[in-house]
Amino acid sequence: MSPKNNKRGESYNQLEAGTKRAKPVQHQRGPEIQPYGKIAKLPIALDEKVCAESTENLNQLLADTMTLRDMYKKHHWQVAGHTFYQLHLLFDKHHGEQDELVDEIAERIQLLGGISLAMAADVAETTMIERPPRGREEVPVQISRLLEAHELILKEARTMAKLATAAGDDGTNDLLVSDVIRTNELQVWFLAEHLVDVPVVRADRGAVAVAGE
Ligand SMILES: [Fe+2]
Repeated sequence: MSPKNNKRGESYNQLEAGTKRAKPVQHQRGPEIQPYGKIAKLPIALDEKVCAESTENLNQLLADTMTLRDMYKKHHWQVAGHTFYQLHLLFDKHHGEQDELVDEIAERIQLLGGISLAMAADVAETTMIERPPRGREEVPVQISRLLEAHELILKEARTMAKLATAAGDDGTNDLLVSDVIRTNELQVWFLAEHLVDVPVVRADRGAVAVAGE
């Protein structure tokens, strides 16, 4: 190091002097404050066992909802064909609505004292929705996959809603019925109508005679 550089180094040290407490403490690790699957009970007048059962159910629903949300984004990007524009927009709208559900479910788990799944690898291990290929698929296949995922979620949400009511967890029941079930049912309607095989331009002449012909 030249005397000139050395001098510069000294002046850096002088600049840093007295700033120790203002510097970020980086690269830290420590033990978990709550292991996954355990309940850190909050004063919400619900039994710990009820919180644990609702948390376990909601984490399954969360993993499936996150997977459906991400499948919507995949299809939003990869859609092809003459309905590209409308489906590109519809898939993104549904993605946004599913993303809101993800947040509601995850925060319900936390307020029940549980821990919500968060990372993609954990979600992939947990979801029951069939994994689609990385490549692009035709529109009818995209929509079929989405409908199957919606139906799986609707089935489990209805079962979980009944279990929550029986256990006295009205908040979880309300989330499942008012938000999860209602949103998924509506999205199914908007999707399913795209798979009705009706003529696009010329009416089916087999059923009714066309006037003047
Ligand atoms: Fe986009």
